[in-house]
Amino acid sequence: MCGIIGYTGNREAGSILADALELLEYRGYDSAGIALSKKDGVQVIKCAGRVKELRKRMQEAKTDAVCGMGHTRWATHGGVSDVNAHPHRFGAVTVIHNGIIENYQELTEKYGLNGKLVSQTDSEVVAAMLSHYYQNDPYAAIRKTVLKLKGTFALAVMFDDIPGKIFAIRNVSPIVAAKIDGGAVFSSDVAALSAYTDRYFVLPEFHIACFGKEGIELYDLSGEAAEPEYMTVDWDTSRSDKGGYPFFMEKEIMEQPAVIRETIQTYLKDGVPDFSEGQIPDSVFRECKRICVIACGTAMHAGLVGKSLIQSMIGIHVDVVMASEFMYNDPVVDPDTLVLAISQSGETIDTLEALKFAKKCGATCISVVNVKGSSIAVNSKYVIYTCAGPEIAVASTKAYTTQLAVLYLLTARMAMARNLWDGARLEGYISELVRVPMVVEEVLERKDEIHHLAGSMLGAKDVFMIGRGLDYSILLEGSLKLKEVSYIHSEAYASGELKHGTIALITRETPVLAVVTQEKLKSKELSNIKEVQSRGAKVILLIKGEDLPKEDYSFEQIFKLPRMEDEFMVIPTSVVLQLLAYYVSADKGLDVDKPRNLAKVVTVE
Ligand code: F6R
Repeated sequence: MCGIIGYTGNREAGSILADALELLEYRGYDSAGIALSKKDGVQVIKCAGRVKELRKRMQEAKTDAVCGMGHTRWATHGGVSDVNAHPHRFGAVTVIHNGIIENYQELTEKYGLNGKLVSQTDSEVVAAMLSHYYQNDPYAAIRKTVLKLKGTFALAVMFDDIPGKIFAIRNVSPIVAAKIDGGAVFSSDVAALSAYTDRYFVLPEFHIACFGKEGIELYDLSGEAAEPEYMTVDWDTSRSDKGGYPFFMEKEIMEQPAVIRETIQTYLKDGVPDFSEGQIPDSVFRECKRICVIACGTAMHAGLVGKSLIQSMIGIHVDVVMASEFMYNDPVVDPDTLVLAISQSGETIDTLEALKFAKKCGATCISVVNVKGSSIAVNSKYVIYTCAGPEIAVASTKAYTTQLAVLYLLTARMAMARNLWDGARLEGYISELVRVPMVVEEVLERKDEIHHLAGSMLGAKDVFMIGRGLDYSILLEGSLKLKEVSYIHSEAYASGELKHGTIALITRETPVLAVVTQEKLKSKELSNIKEVQSRGAKVILLIKGEDLPKEDYSFEQIFKLPRMEDEFMVIPTSVVLQLLAYYVSADKGLDVDKPRNLAKVVTVE
């Protein structure tokens, strides 16, 4: 978590850093700070709170430097306070840090730092160690320091007596960088570079970069010069602003027809799914005996949909495992296992560590990620990129539906590789998949109707969501969305499971959202709805087409979903659930894009 930005060039750095930090706030927004390199030393301005607060502090100070670095924090070690905000200074060294130094207590002892540190952070220890080792050679100080650190880090460092230069090094936590006219920029995320360049490189791990007016110098830890490997951002940079919407979440929900279409079209060649550009041979799909999906949160929910599709249509066993639990449950993963690591950011540490573990067990790993060159992508044998573009709102929406699009395509490619479907079946499946973006457009056109549905949940303390099969998988995601952006307690239940305990919680005050889109499950789902209605629940029904039950059910509200083949109802229905969560949050006056306690990129275990 935490966002890092650095700039050296000809322009006034302060406002450049503050603008970039605002873009990076989705990575953490507990506190913010900048360090400016001046002829007479380094000026630090920092405070608890958002970048807005920092801007106020900056107005009170004189910030006329052309070289500086900034940080927006998601607190891990040490509470949210001015003193724990980055940058941290020790002696003549100033540091910003993203990641966790696991052995900071041991290092505090070893370097006699007790009583000398002013913050409660693990990061200040790094500043102190750099100061300890610094004797006019920044590279030596950085090398000696990082070799003693355990944990993950993206570090940017300034030395008082080296004005106009910033040094950076990383292990696991991301840093992307680029040379620009008259200087250089670096950040935790390409989105913050896109105002300056569309060419960037990922700083290789344990390489020291020095950013200055002349550009970037790069060395490995033995002092050997290294060449950066530049990539091109193929994201439309206009997607990094709100485009007239009040929140990124709404904008990103609205972008879904375009990005789902782009994802599908990218991997369709001559009308059939084709992953040959990512060099994935069909043997990978043909020869695997089982599949294991590792992912967290929303990405894991996408995996659950993938499991249903693959198990029902291909007949291979699929496990979906929370990446954070993967290694601790003795997973059965071997060379016959195909591991799918799904991640928007490509940086989620739990998913990354699970992926590395799976690789060690000999599994073939494909990652489905949104961010090019991210750690999960780099560590996977094969990569399939989703084409969601930058997702800024903390709550994931378009990344999820593009992950689903990839899983639909993978299922079909697997069927082809195994000769399971005849031409007509494949053609029917693809033509329905291609229709998804249009159907999502239809749903989005009915946003006012969905806004009205949200009214039924606005005052609720708890909301239950019930469905079976694919409907249940979708609801797990819908419920997460509602919880995280509206702070309403919500649970998704497989509706058949309700009467084994949870039904005790159903009262007249509890809205129950029921989803019915799967023909084979419909009659059972309707019976389960009756059960909660008999206990007084107000039921909001999302149902496919005109399939309304004949009996009198007296629903609180009904939303008739556009018709698709059952297995394709997932994406349009999910979009309704995203909008519901969005409207509840916006109508409660909450900060939809930055829910409390969260960060977009979770780089701590
Ligand atoms: C919820 C959400 C999170 C992420 C999870 C994994 O809206 O966004 O649950 O899905 O933190 O993140 P990635 O996909 O970046 O690995």
